[in-house]
Amino acid sequence: MKIAIGSDHGGLALKEAIKPFLIEQGHEVVDFGTATTDSCDYPIYGQRVGEAVSFGDCDRGIAICGTGLGISMAVNKVPGIRGALCTNEFMAEMSREHNDANVLVLGARVLGEGLAMRIVKIWLETEFGGDRHQRRIDGITAIEKKYSK
Ligand code: RB5
Repeated sequence: MKIAIGSDHGGLALKEAIKPFLIEQGHEVVDFGTATTDSCDYPIYGQRVGEAVSFGDCDRGIAICGTGLGISMAVNKVPGIRGALCTNEFMAEMSREHNDANVLVLGARVLGEGLAMRIVKIWLETEFGGDRHQRRIDGITAIEKKYSK
């Protein structure tokens, strides 16, 4: 898969650790920054990752900030994005199987690196369940359409 990845300064170290892991697993990685530990604003990187997935340039995205909260709020403002902040393996699995999440959101100051890698692996390997879950995804999309100009 072609995976968009982005973080603010709070997520930089985890982003850099995840990149080689993704490549090792056979994925292509597109890094949307940030590239330094200088303080920066997470909405910029959430928007970049979200747009790469929403526009179809990348298959999936991974967005990281300190808690995962801010960049989750940002990425979910991009139409077509279902960004899931996951703090454990079960959430990672369900976010794919039930919610067809297309962006995984991680909090670098919340997770240890080992757990984060397991979350990433499970999230990438789990398929969407479809069926009744699709009806619920359609419900999310209907809300988005109602409020988009
Ligand atoms: C940056 O200090 C921090 O606020 C950010 O990484 C994130 O945790 C925001 O939700």
